[in-house]
Amino acid sequence: MDFKHFIEQSRNAGDCITITDEVSCRDIPMRIAEEESGENRVLVFENISDYDGAVASNLFGNPERIYRSVGAHDNPSYYQKIDQATQSPPDLALQEMDDQKYDVVANPVLLDQIPNIVHSEHDATPYITSGVVLARNPDTGNHHISYIRLSVLDGNKFYFNPRTPRMKEIAELTVGKGENLEIAVLIGGPVEAMLLGALGFTEDDDELKIAQALSNGELIFADRDLPVPLGTEIVLFGTVEPEYGEEGPFGDMKGLYITNENPICRVTKMWRCKDVNYHSILGGKSQEHVGLVRMKMLHQLEHFKQEKSYILDYHLPKYAASQMCLMTVEDGITLDKVDKELFDIRLIEKFVLLNKDTDPTSAEDVLWAMTHRANEEKDFSFVETENIFGLPGLMIIDATTADPTEWTSIRVKVFE
Ligand SMILES: Cc1cc2nc3c(=O)[nH]c(=O)nc-3n(C[C@H](O)[C@H](O)[C@H](O)COP(=O)(O)O)c2cc1C
Repeated sequence: MDFKHFIEQSRNAGDCITITDEVSCRDIPMRIAEEESGENRVLVFENISDYDGAVASNLFGNPERIYRSVGAHDNPSYYQKIDQATQSPPDLALQEMDDQKYDVVANPVLLDQIPNIVHSEHDATPYITSGVVLARNPDTGNHHISYIRLSVLDGNKFYFNPRTPRMKEIAELTVGKGENLEIAVLIGGPVEAMLLGALGFTEDDDELKIAQALSNGELIFADRDLPVPLGTEIVLFGTVEPEYGEEGPFGDMKGLYITNENPICRVTKMWRCKDVNYHSILGGKSQEHVGLVRMKMLHQLEHFKQEKSYILDYHLPKYAASQMCLMTVEDGITLDKVDKELFDIRLIEKFVLLNKDTDPTSAEDVLWAMTHRANEEKDFSFVETENIFGLPGLMIIDATTADPTEWTSIRVKVFE
């Protein structure tokens, strides 16, 4: 489903509003943050004083909208659809690009072509936060797509920040060896590509083919060296070069600023829909940013839940940027009985095991269980590996009690 149809679907479900009063790019992040903490609908800004297109945001800030976009209704049915799409994805359907629909600009001055949105107080530059980067692995020939934040510089340049497995691998095989890497950035692409851009697959998977399978064959790609899905609002074709600089600071989803040494990309061509609707994801701790990042971990957790009957539920709270898993386990299951592979899920750095009498969505309940049920030294495990940021690795707190039916373990409830 293309970007505009998805917005239309949300509008029909009463889940989207259009802002017609005049705003500037500077106002947009605050307006999104306000909507998220209220009704949390999709927002479309149509009257922007310093941009000549529309800006849409918070598309994926609510799980129901994500499920609905692919015809699912909850986590299990959503991940089942994703898994089905990976089974035997078809070859790409290719077609010529329709130049009636797009303005084509060579070597675009990016700050003139995209809304200049600065998301957090100390961000170094405007950022493109909704860019799904498409690249081909030179060894396997498979295409991979991932959200990568892009720090917009002067002229046609931006910094490129490949940190997660597939893109990092592709960058190491090319830029890392002093060679150029050709990429395409999809902004406002079809829903299937935007969802898969947040999920992780193996190097044997071609994520464009999976996107096509997930769309039930609806997606059509432009017949080019890097095939891009037609209907994408903006496509930036660029070359990442082995020329590095200090990117950031950028206000990231942990609620902390982040900086990295990163290569530069030069955009050689831009396709921009004539009635462009630019997608902006509020950078940092937004529902949409954290919600998309969370999908990768939820995908793995859902597989564990299907396989291990003692896992009753899992919750990745927004305040922990989805990097802490609150896991509800069957009575009698304590840390020593939990399968250790669970703790290999990348990016989840903290686990808290809970009994089913503890509500994982309530921070007060979780702190209660940690205070009263994680008493002994064996209830706290610290594993000294390093995560991608070079910070200390895993922490596990067993906040369960072995027998919640024993008198001194029963949770006191108000007498009714
Ligand atoms: C809004 C947003 C911004 C992201 N920015 C980056 C980034 O700058 N660098 C990065 O490596 N991953 C980033 N991610 C995470 C990856 O897109 C995601 O983990 C993806 O599944 C990685 O795919 P891969 O494992 O195939 O490489 C971002 C995710 C979102 C939702």
